[in-house]
Amino acid sequence: MQVVRKIEGMQEISDRLRQEDKRIGFVPTMGYLHEGHLSLVRKAKDLCDSVVVSIFVNPTQFGPGEDFERYPRDEEGDKSKLEQEGVDFLFIPEIRDMYLLGYQTYVDVTEVSKGLCGDFRPGHFRGVATVVAKLFNLVKPHVAIFGEKDYQQLLVIKRMAKDLNFDIEIIPGRTVREEDGIAMSSRNTYLSPEARKKATVLYRSLRKGKELFDSGERDVSTLSQTIRKEIESEEDVTLQYVEIRDAETLERIERVNRPAAIAVAAIIGSVRLIDNIIIGRDQG
Ligand code: PAF
Repeated sequence: MQVVRKIEGMQEISDRLRQEDKRIGFVPTMGYLHEGHLSLVRKAKDLCDSVVVSIFVNPTQFGPGEDFERYPRDEEGDKSKLEQEGVDFLFIPEIRDMYLLGYQTYVDVTEVSKGLCGDFRPGHFRGVATVVAKLFNLVKPHVAIFGEKDYQQLLVIKRMAKDLNFDIEIIPGRTVREEDGIAMSSRNTYLSPEARKKATVLYRSLRKGKELFDSGERDVSTLSQTIRKEIESEEDVTLQYVEIRDAETLERIERVNRPAAIAVAAIIGSVRLIDNIIIGRDQG
């Protein structure tokens, strides 16, 4: 695996791979990799000839008071995991090269970024869309894989790629869960053992919502209330939102007559966690 730190170096590699007719698969990450990331890497490997993974803790997607400084980092551990997966290139750009002095250009996906996490993390999706657009221009992939764990992010990126005519196929990767159901996330490392136990309420509540849907309930407010009650029954969990939205557009719906995303966010032991489940498609 070749580690690339320079922007020009990455561009040269991508140009060469394209000249050689290689299909480039890309998995952007912020590092501290877990099975969830590695499942995206395997998907990229299945679909492409060359796989590029990036590690970049992107400052523009963190708000004031968020965890940019203390976001977990483990470059050596990440390298060895990616080497074992047979990744071809690991791109680790520097902040000063990604955001040159005087930087002033941002990508704003106006509608999909609204609501859900957008309400609680102002500017977050603007930072995500901006850095992903930049990474797309540097890595020049044919295919890019994003986890469904960050469902709103996935739809923001899909919309951005469509609106800005990126000739890149955006492919979703299913959420990978721990044995107790918690969605894998680099931020799980912040959880104390007690908070971790409490955090299982998120997926439990989503499963409960899905079971109710599977038993025939279609009313969004009834489904939401059931999930809300389940989460609020757990002590020391501060619920931020329970939303049930159209799975393609994230538009508000009143009844679930087509695939929908149930998305939740809560603060558990000072750690903000999100999770979601899709209902009304073949497999939840
Ligand atoms: O999901 C993430 O890790 C980040 O938001 C991403 C897509 C790498 C952009 O910084």
